[in-house]
Amino acid sequence: MEPFQIAIDGPVAAGKGTVARLVASRLGFLYVDTGAMYRTTALLGKRNGVEWSDEAGLVSLLQHHEIELRTPSEQEKDGRSITVLLDTEDVSWEIRTEEMSRGSSIVSVHQHVRKALVEQQQRIAQKYDVVMEGRDITFRVLPSAQLKIYLHASPEVRAKRRHQELLVRGMDVSFEQVYAELKERDDRDMNRSVDPLHIADGAWVLDTSPLTIDEVVDVICARVKELRV
Ligand code: DC
Repeated sequence: MEPFQIAIDGPVAAGKGTVARLVASRLGFLYVDTGAMYRTTALLGKRNGVEWSDEAGLVSLLQHHEIELRTPSEQEKDGRSITVLLDTEDVSWEIRTEEMSRGSSIVSVHQHVRKALVEQQQRIAQKYDVVMEGRDITFRVLPSAQLKIYLHASPEVRAKRRHQELLVRGMDVSFEQVYAELKERDDRDMNRSVDPLHIADGAWVLDTSPLTIDEVVDVICARVKELRV
């Protein structure tokens, strides 16, 4: 049987990660956080002295290093949603800083960086039932996915969520700072020349502002059930 593919796109902090992880866990699918791959690319650049603006340098790094995503093992369950390995080193938390958020958004404007990562993502989705989330999954990585979703929420709601997340992780940032950073990233993700984030044809637009996470997960799982009969 063909693998079942659920593709989710949406802007920063729309709830994609949490929703995708929970839907995957409920359905027994593999959760694939593609943003983690762009974050790890930014980290690779930083560690190797390659500027985030240096497309050829970043592509070469990707050819010589391996990024692997996997479901956290029992020992790794420390609040992370996914384990990210860079050449077998666990970088799951190192890629979650504000610096890497910015870096990932910058490295992701490059066409050849995107091409390399998109190919990896497509290979994974050919093998497993997946819930894959990112910024180009519904129209570039998995345009034929059985279910395509665009998760959406207002910038205020998203900034509030992201601010809360950072405070819980002990980071000392103001709401204003988080809001400004989020708007800057949205702007870059939605206006880059290669595959800017947009609502794909046939995507189901789901506004998460008035819903709890559980409600979003419930409606998505109900839709999958309808599609699979
Ligand atoms: O989802 P995230 O915040 O971890 O993503 C980090 C950055 O990576 C985001 O600002 C844009 C980029 N990205 C992308 O361009 N395409 C994807 N499929 C996923 C992320």
